[in-house]
Amino acid sequence: MRLVSVVGARPQFVKLAVMCRAVAEGTRVASHHIIHTGQHYDVEMNDVFFRDLDIPEPDAHLGVGSGSHSAQTAEAMTRLEPVLRDAPADWVVLYGDTNSTLAGALVAAKLGLRIAHVEAGLRSYNRQMPEEINRVTADHLSDLLLCPTPTAVRNLAREGLQDRAVLVGDVMYDAALRYRDVAEGRGGDLAETWRPGTFALATVHRQENTDDVHRLATILGALDRIAERICPVLLPLHPRTRKAMAEAGLSCRSVTTLRPVSYLEMLLLEGRARFVLTDSGGVQKESYFVRTPCITLRNETEWVETLENRCNVLAGADEEAICAAAGCARQAGPWTAVYGDGRAAQAMLGALEVALMEP
Ligand code: UD1
Ligand code: UDP
Repeated sequence: MRLVSVVGARPQFVKLAVMCRAVAEGTRVASHHIIHTGQHYDVEMNDVFFRDLDIPEPDAHLGVGSGSHSAQTAEAMTRLEPVLRDAPADWVVLYGDTNSTLAGALVAAKLGLRIAHVEAGLRSYNRQMPEEINRVTADHLSDLLLCPTPTAVRNLAREGLQDRAVLVGDVMYDAALRYRDVAEGRGGDLAETWRPGTFALATVHRQENTDDVHRLATILGALDRIAERICPVLLPLHPRTRKAMAEAGLSCRSVTTLRPVSYLEMLLLEGRARFVLTDSGGVQKESYFVRTPCITLRNETEWVETLENRCNVLAGADEEAICAAAGCARQAGPWTAVYGDGRAAQAMLGALEVALMEP
């Protein structure tokens, strides 16, 4: 079986790492080519993931970079087409819901290639979110939908896609299980400074929160209040957020801001934090994996299991709601194994093999 993975952004590198490891451990895959669109390119957003997670060098790097949604997607499509046309692909494997996912789906579908979508079936039912448009399109263009949860399978069934859906578990859970001890073992300056249970960890990068100055200001205001009244707050800043803060003249004087941290540092911090505040999909799940209560800085989430199990609460960008949630964040649960058994990547390879044999 010959696989071609298309990636481009930070959370996709984590998912790709798990896939690469499963490929390397088995004999099912004759070749696995990696195409990197170049959507993320800073050392902290890109290189550290390839280095720390032992991801092989991409076979092709398209150098697309940043731009508006359409410009970035169009550039990725233009550069992807000749590479994908020549690639040895029984399956084009796409991950998550970024513009790189969308470009990969459109190009592969037009070339008549078989597409598998990892993390299929997630829905926020909010079409203002660029990711919702990307994931709905990718799901409908894919031949095999690799779902992390039963909820995702049900979401796809509502859109008539149940015949292509397979429940495999969540590859990010595989990653967290594999790397959590590695992260603690590595130590480092952050591990020395940020002791277990003494701080809150925050991330903010979603378009709805960074491009809306009012939302960004209230979130930063809430983080400042938490830092002043509850516990120190650590905020590794996505470059998008750093730029938005600079342009709007916003800062948070009581919060410790950092450049983006590595995946291993992030896992360590998530595991040690008293609670997490985030608008990231991946960070909500990782908080659940390491059993740290989460406050989500959005009005809805795709990861509804974390809410149902009372390990996560939605606080939007409402300063009072965020501070109130922080004031009562404590160990909740049950932290049931809703994201699989840690072998999602193996299940994915099995599903790819089975689907390839079908007429
Ligand atoms: C993208 C994904 C989002 C995902 C996030 C992960 C889309 C539509 N969004 O959002 O789903 O959660 O990645 O982090 O694909 N920038 C840099 N250096 C970089 C990368 C970005 O400075 O290495 C800055 C640029 O100013 C860029 C901005 O960040 O314009 C946004 O980057 P982009 O990749 O367009 O979207 P993200 O917000 O990162
Ligand atoms: N992450 C990281 N360093 C950071 C922030 C996040 O390594 O400073 C990791 C995080 O642990 C998770 C992934 O990046 O594995 C999530 O990516 P992000 O929040 O950018 O995107 P989303 O999951 O929302 O699409």
